[in-house]
Amino acid sequence: MKTFYIGLFSIASLVAAGSAAAQAKGADVYKKTCAACHDQGIAGAPKIGDKAAWAPGIKQGKEALYTISLKGKPGTGMVAKGGNASLSDADVKASVDYMIGRAK
Ligand code: HEC
Repeated sequence: MKTFYIGLFSIASLVAAGSAAAQAKGADVYKKTCAACHDQGIAGAPKIGDKAAWAPGIKQGKEALYTISLKGKPGTGMVAKGGNASLSDADVKASVDYMIGRAK
């Protein structure tokens, strides 16, 4: 029984550590790649932390925002992966999660 509880505890702490790591990653990717435009709202980019600017996008759903982030939005300043093709899809999604979190 004791081992069972210890096992359960380890899994819980692993899961917690995993999501904390993803959050840290998202903030880091944001600062290095996305902040160039999204910090100040360059070229019409929705500014980080601006709830009104993010509300319509958040309404469309996370998947739609992921797609824009990964593929870019044709005809706007939003290029695929914010112009940093070396980012993995997971890194880009983490930065989107970070921005959505800041807009709530
Ligand atoms: C070169 C400037 C630039 C960079 C760098 C940039 N963006 Fe953008 N982004 C824009 C612009 C401009 C828009 C607004 C496009 C429009 O007119 O709809 C936008 C829109 C978006 C949207 C859609 C928001 C909505 O509500 O529709 C998401 C999501 C997004 N960017 C994510 C990112 C992520 C994630 C990164 C970093 C990996 C990033 N952007 C880097 C310029 C940039």
